[in-house]
Amino acid sequence: MLEIRNLHARIAEDGTEIIRGLNLTVKKGEVAAIMGPNGSGKSTLSYILAGREDYEVTEGDILFDGTSILEMDPAERAAAGVFLAFQYPVEIPGVATMEFLKVAMNSQRKARGEPELKIPDFLKRVKDAAGSLGMDMAMLKRPLNVGFSGGEKKRAEILQMKLLEPRLCVLDETDSGLDIDALKVVADGVNSLRSPDRAMVVITHYQRLLDLIVPDTVHVLYRGQVIKSGDKSLALQLEEQGYAGVVGEAA
Ligand SMILES: Nc1ncnc2c1ncn2[C@@H]1O[C@H](COP(=O)(O)OP(=O)(O)OP(=O)(O)O)[C@@H](O)[C@H]1O
Ligand SMILES: [Mg+2]
Repeated sequence: MLEIRNLHARIAEDGTEIIRGLNLTVKKGEVAAIMGPNGSGKSTLSYILAGREDYEVTEGDILFDGTSILEMDPAERAAAGVFLAFQYPVEIPGVATMEFLKVAMNSQRKARGEPELKIPDFLKRVKDAAGSLGMDMAMLKRPLNVGFSGGEKKRAEILQMKLLEPRLCVLDETDSGLDIDALKVVADGVNSLRSPDRAMVVITHYQRLLDLIVPDTVHVLYRGQVIKSGDKSLALQLEEQGYAGVVGEAA
């Protein structure tokens, strides 16, 4: 479903290369974990998948269902079913979360050739999804992410993901700043979205998240490349031994 081939990318502003020949394949139905030391390029990779303009792809390709997405703008990628949950979600002042969800869901439906949701249907879906995440409906009247705590922002992202039903979900450090209960809620949210038609990429530093979201594959990113791939045991090995061994093998 997602195939990244020999990707090279740099910061548009100053030309610094961050992604240096990255290869990664994530199959339909697969949950892939990406781990790697601070600064290895994990968040950068998620921004590039989203289509942020601050980065330039200089070589290689990103295929989604066999089609390159490099020429698509962020909205087209979203319409194609790519969803990104960022390490630092953006605040959108002046737009109530509810309103944001309605516009996002309806534009997604439009892209799929489905009719707009009727208000009662929309409300029911939001209520069900918010309820399953332990979110208060009152919070959804507030502007998106503005003044939300770290944990609330993460819940809000999982809520969007549940409602938008994307085909590829990329979650960047969804465990950061979550308390133990919230971690479980988020993991349950992610697990409930596991499906044979959907692929997920979970970027994380912590085995404790992978105890809850058990990945099919684990990939280690280092200096802009995937230097090792394995199954869930690779994450356990990293937890015990740190990155030194894996980095040494690749060097
Ligand atoms: N816009 C930018 N300007 C300058 N440097 C940047 C920019 N974006 C990314 N970098 C650099 O690229 C490298 C990779 O950053 P990135 O945020 O992708 O790392 P990461 O793997 O997500 O790290 P962490 O585990 O700490 O979240 C870092 O050295 C970072 O400083
Ligand atoms: Mg990061």
